[in-house]
Formats: sequence, structure tokens, C-alpha cells
Amino acid sequence: MTREEAKKTIDELIEKIDHYNALYYQESVSEISDYEFDQLLKSLEDLETKFPEFKYDYSPTQRVGGTITKSFDTVTHKNAMLSLSNTYSEEELFDFDKRVEKGLEGQSYEYLCELKFDGVAISLWYENGVLQRAVTRGDGTRGDDITTNARTIRSIPLKLRSVSSMPNEFEVRGEVFMSRKVFDALNAERELKGEALLANPRNTTSGTLKMQDSSVVANRKLDCFLYYFQSDDRVVSTHEKAIHLLEKLGFSISKTYKKCQSIHEVIEYMKEWELKRFDLPLDTDGIVIKVNELNQQDQLGFTAKSPRWAIAYKYKTQSATTRLRGITFQVGRTGAITPVAELEPVLLAGTTVKRASLHNANEIERLELKIGDYVFVEKGGEIIPKVTGVDLENRPYDLEDFVYTEVCPECGTKLFRKEGEAVHYCPNEAGCPPQVLGRIEHFIQRKAMNIESLGPETIRGLLDHGKIKDVADLYALKYDDLNGLEFKIYSDKKEGYSVRSLRDKSARNIINSIENSKSQPFDQLLFGLGIRYVGATVSEKLVEYYKDIHDLANASYEELIEVPEIGERIAESLRLYFDDKNNKELIKRLIGFGLKTKVDETKEKKGNNVLEGKTFVISGVFEKVSRDGLKELIKNQGGKVLSSISSKLDFLVAGDKMGPSKMEKAQKLNIQTISEDDFLNMIGKND
Ligand code: IVH
Repeated sequence: MTREEAKKTIDELIEKIDHYNALYYQESVSEISDYEFDQLLKSLEDLETKFPEFKYDYSPTQRVGGTITKSFDTVTHKNAMLSLSNTYSEEELFDFDKRVEKGLEGQSYEYLCELKFDGVAISLWYENGVLQRAVTRGDGTRGDDITTNARTIRSIPLKLRSVSSMPNEFEVRGEVFMSRKVFDALNAERELKGEALLANPRNTTSGTLKMQDSSVVANRKLDCFLYYFQSDDRVVSTHEKAIHLLEKLGFSISKTYKKCQSIHEVIEYMKEWELKRFDLPLDTDGIVIKVNELNQQDQLGFTAKSPRWAIAYKYKTQSATTRLRGITFQVGRTGAITPVAELEPVLLAGTTVKRASLHNANEIERLELKIGDYVFVEKGGEIIPKVTGVDLENRPYDLEDFVYTEVCPECGTKLFRKEGEAVHYCPNEAGCPPQVLGRIEHFIQRKAMNIESLGPETIRGLLDHGKIKDVADLYALKYDDLNGLEFKIYSDKKEGYSVRSLRDKSARNIINSIENSKSQPFDQLLFGLGIRYVGATVSEKLVEYYKDIHDLANASYEELIEVPEIGERIAESLRLYFDDKNNKELIKRLIGFGLKTKVDETKEKKGNNVLEGKTFVISGVFEKVSRDGLKELIKNQGGKVLSSISSKLDFLVAGDKMGPSKMEKAQKLNIQTISEDDFLNMIGKND
């Protein structure tokens, strides 16, 4: 393929992928299968590797992240990002309408109502249709430059569809959010890993946008709705038209907006969405009312803090009072104890609530809860309602102080609490039923050993009949252990359980899938072991460095924290795990059964890892390979690209037109500066 042909194909592929991507995010329509989509991406990636000079910043292959940002630059907003004034009552809405009417001196006007998305505000700057910069709101005047992270959000177009009325430069604003589904899945995963649960999608979004590693951001599946367009030359006359334009350019907008002719219609809209908003995939906490005509917005202008042409109406958080019948305790896979409030059933935001999370002992103490209290329950952003307070005025006089359990509710072992931690743990790892069951469930899941034909009921049956005690016992199971095995099925609806027995076919299936699981790769086995804080991603990172479980098990704490992205918490947890004699025994048995405890060298990636462990900063313009091409080469050879110069840096690859301050900093810190040729020689590719 000639260079010209390659460029043409790359352009076409980008356009195609962007088209399917926008269709998916704007209309929830998939015209091609995920597989076909991935194939298109792969073709593009291959071409970009062959012709790195055509690897553009706006290519959809650039969304996977990988750049590390040590600290985000603060930048000044071109137009200050103001906030909205809030109201909570219909009366205040009428007052707002009166002010608008007065300000517009008898002109007729209409409103555009939108939902108030509960996420994190973002400002995007486009030049010639290409995303240049993404900035957080910050204090309204200055925000953080989070472009590298924003690029990973697939509903933020890197390159816009061209539209005749598109100005050369403009700003777009909107709200980055995490859908509740993604949030719940993330928390479910954290629970499996024994990590602290995240409070709500909004805080998680905000934390995610400030992460240093953009590849982690890419995995978090953030989303974004845009609701504001501003350019020097006015290309639209109303807010409604601005939204249409945003949509045409390829942005995601929420179709929940509505044009209203009067404040009465606004109130109808507000009421319509009060409950309907819970059916949306994201959290919303109110509505935003905007004067539609942009000239009229100008006439009304701003106060020091907020526009006079818009206002937010916030829904009251849904809350109810009910009686606390009791507090029970749940034991997780890692032995973590979670107290749960057992409530007299109460209707809240459309569903009946019987239980609410109490987090930990400190929370119960903070609330000063007593069994028999009347408590307030709220449904905020989270699906699981929470107890927010006690109705002290209605407290019956004879309630006893609540005493937190000292022993495990499942196995009776004395609980312990680590210094500085709020959560109690049951230390009886080997004998506490929910822990044993939880560990096996974790081990068999698809992302680990993929023995999903073995459901939780069968596992419980095997445990009840003493056929297994831990995950290694699975590999000693024979057909006869399974065929005819009786197990119990509990139902949510009915009390008690029914007994079933395992049929011949299921027994065979299970034996087969256990056998097949022996070929699951090392990193999935490592994840399956359920070591605290070692999730799927951490496992992948670890096996990149330790190709054999023996090496990992023998690595000291000091060595472990040297591994990129492995912090003190993970290192400590790994040491704790591998120092335990029962775990040592378990691993020995797993090796004996033929599980993969080494990296399959034949499947190793393209490069030869000559840059393993080395870090690089790329700066300036290059002759032979593009900046992105250089980055790719470094990554393929096992090196890492950093975004800023620090004393830890190994090499600065300096091109033409590199800024003098960078050079100065590198010299000061004694960082080795190399040219493009030096670098290509280093990896043996200077031809
Ligand atoms: S318009 C000058 N529209 O609410 C007015 N804001 O309190 C610019 N927000 O910082 C804001 N949904 O983060 C607007 N449909 C919507 C919104 C919205 C959520 C947030 C935004 C803003 C805050 C203002």
C-alpha cells in the first residue's frame, strides 16, 4: 500500500468508526456487531502502526488511554463557568418568571427545560472540528486541564462531523457522568475484590476524571451529555437550535428537554419528571429552566454569580420514616462485616424498602441508632437506600443501647478491627461458610477460571456434603461426586428451600468445564485467588512483571512497590497472602493439578521488551516517526511514556522545537537527553 492509499484508508476508517460510535451514543443503535466494530478498529490500528505519520490525535484508536498525568495544569476559562441559582418551590419558579417578564419588558418569550444531570461539569474547546482541550469547572474562573482523560470518553467526539454553520473555534459545555449500571458493576467488582465501596456515581465520576492513568479512566466507561454551545460569532439564535447543532456535530445530548410556552408548562414538565427520572440510566437532581432566545438571554444578562435567564429547580431528596426492626450482619468473601438495617416495609420513590445499608459500626454510632427507633431513610443517587437519621422526638422511652456484634454471625469467631479501619472482619477464613463460598464463587467466575456451569447452589451442595473445602478440591472432583448430588434452592419469595439433585448431563458439563479451566491464563488464575486489592487489572499488571507465580510469591514488599501501579496497600496484601502457610499449600496443590501458574511465553506480544522498565518523555517535533508513533514503539518494547519530567525519568527524547524550559529541567535533574536517531538505534529500528 502506498502512503497516499494508506492515508485515504485511514481517513475512511476514522469516519466510519466515528459514525458507528456516534450512532451508538446518540441513538443507542448498533448498525454493526461489536465484533465488526472491533475489526474496524483493529484495521485502523494496524495501518497506524505501519504508517505512524498518519496516526492522528483524534483517531478513535487513541481512546484507550495510557498517558500518565502526574499533575493537571490549571488553565483559565475563556468564558467563566458560572453556576445556576437554585430553587426548591413552585412559588420561587413563579418569582423567577416574573423577573424574566419584567426584564424583557413585554416581549413574548419561551423557555427550554432540561434535566439537571448530576455529574461533573466540563468545558470542551474545539478548533477546526478537532478537540483541543477539556477543562473542569474548577472555581468557575480556572479549572484543571483533563484533556488526556476526557479523550477516553467515547461520547465526546475527538473529531466533529463537518456542518456548514460550524465556526472555526468554539466551546461546548456539558456534564460528564457515570451511568448507574456502570457504577453498580464497578461496585460489585470492588466488593468481590474486598475493596471499599464507592459512595455514588457523581463522586466516582469526579474522582475518575482526576486519575493519573488515563487507561484506567478509559475502563471506567464515563459518558457525557452536552448542553451548551458558545462561539464568538453567533451561529444559532436559540438554545434549542444550539442543541440541534450539537447533535448534528456528533455530540450526545439528552432527549429529555422540552420547549415550554409558559411557567405553567414548566411546572408540568417538572412534575412529569419527578418520578420518571428514576427510569433514566443516570442520576438527575432537578431541572434547569432557560430562556430560549439567545438575544433575550443577553438582555437579561448575569448577576455576579449566575445568569438571570436561567434557574435550577431541585427535587427534594426522596425520604420516608419507618421503624428499625433490627440490625443484621452480612459477611462478605473477604470476611468484611456489613451491618444492615432491617426496616418495617415503607414506600420510597416508587419501591418498597425493607432493608438499608448501615456501612459499619462507626455509622451506627454516629446515628446513635437503637432498635425500635423511627428512622429516616433516603434514596439519593444510590440504588440502596440509606438510613440518614433518627427521629429523636418520637423515640420510645424504653429502648436499649445497641451493642455491635463481637463475634461473626455466621461462624461465631471473634471479630477484629484493624487500626484506623472502620470495618470489622471475621478472621476465620478457612471455616466461615460465606467466606469459603464467596471465595469459590469468585474463583469460578468468567473473568477468573470460567467454570460458570457450577452455580452457587451446587457449590453450596458440595460444601454441605463435605466434597470440597477450597478451590483446589474442585480439581479432585469425580463424576460420581457430582452425579445425583443433592443441593438446596432458596427462594426470595418463599420461606425455606427445596431440594434438587444434579443430573448426569450437568455433572458431565461441570467435570468438563473444571478440566477446561486448567488452561485459563496465569493472570486470570491470580485474579481468581481473590487476594485483597488484586482485581483483574492489577493481576494483569503483576504478571507482566512476574511471569511465574514463584517469582511473585518470593517478591519482597520493597520489590513489589517498585512495580508500576502497585502501591503499598496491594504490596502488603500480596505479602500477607503469600506468607500464609495455608495459601502456600493451596498454590502447591493447584500447581499439582496442572493449572497455569506461568505466563504462556508463546503468546507474548510483538516487541522484544528491550525497553522494559524504562521511562520516557517525548517532546518536540520529529522527522522519521510521529510523536504517537514513538509512543507506540516505546510501549511495544515494554517501556513507559510519562507526560512530565521528574527525577524518576530515564530518558527525554528531544525533537525539534522543544521548549527551553523542558530542556533546562532535564539538565537540572541530570536526565539523559537523546535524539530521535539515538532512540531508534536503541531499539534497533533505525532503518
Ligand atoms: S446550564 C450558565 N444545564 O449544574 C449556565 N447546567 O448549578 C450553565 N448542570 O455547573 C449551566 N445539568 O454542572 C446547565 N442541563 C443543564 C445542567 C447543568 C446539570 C450543572 C452544571 C452546572 C451546574 C449549575
